[in-house]
Amino acid sequence: MTATKERAASLREQLVAWRRHLHQHPELSFEEHETAGYIEAELKKMPGLTVTRPTATSVLAVLKGGEPGRTVLLRADIDALPITEENDFEFKSKNEGIMHACGHDGHTAILLGTAKMLTDHPEDVPGEVRMIFQHAEEFGPGGAEELVTQTSLMDGVDVVTGLHLNSQLPAGMVAVKPGAFMASPDMLELKIKGKGGHGAHPEEAIDPIAIGAQVITNLQHVVSRHVGAQDALVVTIAKFQAGTTHNVIPDTAELMGTVRTFDPELRQKAPKLIERVIKGICDAHGATYELKYEFGYRPLINTDWVAEQLREIALAEVGEEHFMVSKPTMGGEDFSAYLEKAPGAYFNVGSGSDEADSKWPHHHPRFTLDELSLETGARMLHEAALKLTMPQK
Ligand code: NI
Repeated sequence: MTATKERAASLREQLVAWRRHLHQHPELSFEEHETAGYIEAELKKMPGLTVTRPTATSVLAVLKGGEPGRTVLLRADIDALPITEENDFEFKSKNEGIMHACGHDGHTAILLGTAKMLTDHPEDVPGEVRMIFQHAEEFGPGGAEELVTQTSLMDGVDVVTGLHLNSQLPAGMVAVKPGAFMASPDMLELKIKGKGGHGAHPEEAIDPIAIGAQVITNLQHVVSRHVGAQDALVVTIAKFQAGTTHNVIPDTAELMGTVRTFDPELRQKAPKLIERVIKGICDAHGATYELKYEFGYRPLINTDWVAEQLREIALAEVGEEHFMVSKPTMGGEDFSAYLEKAPGAYFNVGSGSDEADSKWPHHHPRFTLDELSLETGARMLHEAALKLTMPQK
């Protein structure tokens, strides 16, 4: 058994207690006041940490080691979602309509555990470890962007890492991937303006529903005919609203969708390709349109050497049988904001098991964690802190 595994195992009950307290008291993005207060109070019980609030609802703990070394940032997100929990265990959400349905309660407990393990043995730590309990991951423009652009959090940071629990991977599994890992979740809102009329006389109207249907199918043409097959692009129209009854052609139709890619260049090109289709079809049929296109979080591209170090840490800590190279996902993450300022890598720790009934997808009202994943997460971040702070040869 590694020393880190032993230290994490001795924290088992504490990790579970932190996670369950947080699970019972979830708060929405930018409203994590009680959560931040709780985290701050727990960190202040650990000697050797400097604890501050970079923003109203985020908490930063800094541990300075005795020897020279690099400065490492470890990140956990702390916010919950507007979902009514359908679990019935005794620590279910006490806040009506709000739920930790993405595992951020686990991330927070894991980083608290990491802080505890590091402060118990500060002599092991060279350099400096900054631990950021970040608000508002779930709601754009996101807490990371605020911390990166409005505070001095990233000043002097050499490398950054953090993890997301993943219910679709077996509990205890560690998954790391170099390079492109998560996509940019950009948004579009489109209003097609036609001309309303009687359903019996479409020739006197400009039908925004028929035009909208053409737009939707033709947008897939952008994906299949204007973008290389090796360059992943997803265009999803997720909302299409128009009309009131069976015989009235409405004036307008409203569409909303998401556009996702890993490639920063394609990301810049996508709005033009999309608008060209919309304009062409609207022009052809005499309609006009309003298009609002909004960039969300950047694509998350892991730095190769940091991913390689995390892979080595995982192999040493959990072994080959609990390690895999993760697949990239079209999901988005504001962890990408930190990677604009420093090299780093984001990785997954599995939290799904039949015993814990924790294979429900993220953001589902039955989502929960196999709490053994808390130990795995804390072991990984603890080892990452020790290894990544070591001075470069
Ligand atoms: Ni999440």
